[in-house]
Amino acid sequence: LLYTLFSIFHTFFFLKMFTISMENNSQNSDVALNVHFLHLPDSEIAVYEGDILLRRGQRSAINCESCLWPKSLDGLVKVPVNISSDFSLAERSWIADALQEVSTLTCVKFVNRTTEADYVYVERGQSCWSYFGKIGGRQAVGLVKNGCMDKGAIQHEMNHALGFIHEQARSDRDKFVKIMWEHITAEQGNFGKVNSKNLGLPYDYSSVMHYGAYDFSSTPGKPTIVPVPNPLVPIGQREGLSNLDVAKINKLYKCSKCSKIASSFSSVNYPSPYPNNSNCLWLIRIRRNKIFLQFEAFDLQTSSDCSSDYVKVYSGNSKSSPVLLDKYCGQGPLPSIVASGSTVLVEFASDETVTATGFRASYNRGMNTP
Ligand SMILES: *[C@@H]1O[C@H](CO)[C@@H](O)[C@H](O)[C@H]1NC(C)=O
Ligand SMILES: *[C@@H]1O[C@H](CO)[C@@H](O)[C@H](O)[C@H]1NC(C)=O
Ligand SMILES: *[C@@H]1O[C@H](CO)[C@@H](O)[C@H](O)[C@H]1NC(C)=O
Ligand SMILES: *[C@@H]1O[C@H](CO)[C@@H](O)[C@H](O)[C@H]1NC(C)=O
Repeated sequence: LLYTLFSIFHTFFFLKMFTISMENNSQNSDVALNVHFLHLPDSEIAVYEGDILLRRGQRSAINCESCLWPKSLDGLVKVPVNISSDFSLAERSWIADALQEVSTLTCVKFVNRTTEADYVYVERGQSCWSYFGKIGGRQAVGLVKNGCMDKGAIQHEMNHALGFIHEQARSDRDKFVKIMWEHITAEQGNFGKVNSKNLGLPYDYSSVMHYGAYDFSSTPGKPTIVPVPNPLVPIGQREGLSNLDVAKINKLYKCSKCSKIASSFSSVNYPSPYPNNSNCLWLIRIRRNKIFLQFEAFDLQTSSDCSSDYVKVYSGNSKSSPVLLDKYCGQGPLPSIVASGSTVLVEFASDETVTATGFRASYNRGMNTP
């Protein structure tokens, strides 16, 4: 009993030091409420950086091998998920859609939970929050109906569950941002820095894991985080995983996956021949309007049915989405491709023989079209 009391006291004390915000002054609504103080799953859990719950002794961010989800023999890291039926069907499919992007672009596969013991339960929360990494058993991720249902906000919380901390908590963050402590009163604990494993990948202002400039500000209109040297660099986007977010998941989980969030793009080594046995995916994501995809150059090995080397385009964010352009090969030009949705997936594959110079492509949002 004495130990329990001590534990509770200890946890409480720790939590006090990391008081968290009840204001939703942030664009990304990455806000945790005091509710955690009352509903701690056990005293080994502590609130940290606003929306992450940590197990005691695991405060070194992504520097924690045992926090990772296991990889199965097929090279996939399966993370079973059950989305609470408290969400509407539309919300559940929106959440599933945000998770599908991760499944498409990395070797992490979110799968519907059947009987797995370790899994993520996505629940309607009074705050947006997650545990850090895999904790074992059922672990909740909280999403607020109008608070963190943006695609990037959902991915943000799931990224915590995969083992990622906030970008501005990286060990090297002081080279990239200045924390404006004078504008942060109650929630200084959310702006801590940790001894993180940075995976040899650069600091990313456009990460979904980065706080926005005004998050947790105690003075309206005054920023809490200012990028250096250029204070105008945008931070805190929640439209979806950045290119580096994708690369970091693949690196942390040791996936050999060729996939990117696209702007303009080309086959590997273009205009030199692409490699044999290449397989790459580019996800194009826009907020609204149509996507006009144009191949400015195109030269792939010709084969019957394009079964050897090909480009294939999907309207959506997975290889099971509707096909816009079926396997295509040979020498271009290709007509431009118009997609009516907000995501398009481009797949390129080559087999083990004969390569060519490949392709270069770009897209625009088609602002001036009917
Ligand atoms: C907090 O968010 C809710 C819902 O998004 C909104 O109705 C409310 O006005 C916000 N409160 C503040 C203080 O911004
Ligand atoms: C998923 O969660 C719901 C409650 O929202 C529960 O009724 C159902 O049994 C769970 N399913 C699985 C497979 O865990
Ligand atoms: C997962 O379950 C949802 C319903 O909750 C269903 O719509 C979806 O097709 C399932 N996905 C897979 C891969 O079975
Ligand atoms: C692809 O493989 C063939 C032989 O299988 C080889 O001749 C060719 O140089 C390879 N191409 C590249 C780009 O590696």
